[in-house]
Amino acid sequence: MWKGVIKLTSRVLVYNKPRLEGIITVPGDKSISHRAVMFGAIAEGKTTVTGFLPGEDCLSTIDCFRKLGVDIQVDGTNVEINSPGMDGWQEPKEVLYTGNSGTTTRLMLGILAGTNFHSVMTGDASIGKRPMGRVTNPLKQMGAKINGRENGQYTPIAIQGTALKAIDYTMPVASAQVKSAILLAGLRAEGTTIVREKEISRDHTERMLQQFGAKIDVKDGVISLEGGQRLHGTHVDVPGDISSAAFFLVAGAIVPNSEIVLKNVGINPTRAGIIEVMQQMGANVTVDQELSDAAEPTATITIRTSNLKRTTIEGDIIPRLIDEIPIIALLATQAEGTTIIRDAEELKVKETDRITAVVTELKKLGADITATDDGMIINGPTSLKGAKLSTYGDHRIGMMAAIASLITDSPIEIDDADCIAVSYPTFFEHLDLLLK
Ligand code: S3P
Repeated sequence: MWKGVIKLTSRVLVYNKPRLEGIITVPGDKSISHRAVMFGAIAEGKTTVTGFLPGEDCLSTIDCFRKLGVDIQVDGTNVEINSPGMDGWQEPKEVLYTGNSGTTTRLMLGILAGTNFHSVMTGDASIGKRPMGRVTNPLKQMGAKINGRENGQYTPIAIQGTALKAIDYTMPVASAQVKSAILLAGLRAEGTTIVREKEISRDHTERMLQQFGAKIDVKDGVISLEGGQRLHGTHVDVPGDISSAAFFLVAGAIVPNSEIVLKNVGINPTRAGIIEVMQQMGANVTVDQELSDAAEPTATITIRTSNLKRTTIEGDIIPRLIDEIPIIALLATQAEGTTIIRDAEELKVKETDRITAVVTELKKLGADITATDDGMIINGPTSLKGAKLSTYGDHRIGMMAAIASLITDSPIEIDDADCIAVSYPTFFEHLDLLLK
């Protein structure tokens, strides 16, 4: 969809030796908000969602399902979905536009493959560069009829819904988006779909399928799901997004004399790697888990400024903190010694190549940081200076730059402040609230 000439909103960030103090409730988890809408649309009947993230990515998901004829009402962070179930969806008359959202694009592929109609999906320039073959290849093995640029590797992609058969699939990369697309296709497939993970990626799909009444078996990295199961509308309470909390966790650790309390943070073990890393680095972080039997565990997290030391981040923790690596890199510039991040080549296929983006932009601030094939090496501590930074249109690079500006000796200018609304529309409001 052509959106006209896009003018970037640059923003100059001027903070004079700030201190951060206060309490914030982190906005809803992006991964879980997407899934709540998707599963609510697949299910028959009414689904209500509280704590929904009204960020641009999740709104793209809602827009796609409205084009399939699903009734979705949004009121702030409350969403109500009334769906006839998948068999009652209509063939979309327009292209489904997924914006900047990899989760929407990849999970929708798995969902649309098993419908009985034709659809076409496309996203923004960043989505057009992101690999879809990792999803379309296993889906084609299930019988999916998918055509796209470069043999189904890139959007725009056309999907002719058809009958699917189950597969037994060993994941070549740790990716919850790929895993989820296969499982969602597996819901409609004949037979039992099996997905095998060497490294465990976020498991929100597995948890939420159960919430919607599906039977799914998860054991030692092997997930089995019988096809032909129907989902039933339910209530989903979305916890706060640890990937958004991460920016203020790091801010609280590196801005002198700070103390920040973050409420309602999702601490699902498949997402909470950053807390382990910060503890290893000597951060003063306390986690008070809330007692509940909710599908996703939550906690109040308190962070206070402290001296930090180096660490090595590698192996199976990587998928548990993949989205936090940009802000962890900034943290490492303030830690004593050489921090090594490896096994993170997946960073190259995020909203932008995050190895290149993080290293290029932190270098402009005076950081001692080197890119490697699968990560980066950071020597610290270094005092950082202001500069003009590019976000590459990537929300997490934008927020990394904004947090960096709290400790630079002169202002940082970012070229595109609006991209932050993809995952954290109230980011600057929360920052203002904490500034003392
Ligand atoms: C997500 C999975 C991860 C993550 C992305 C959200 C999800 O991507 O980086 O921000 O909601 O399943 P991959 O599946 O590509 O690892």
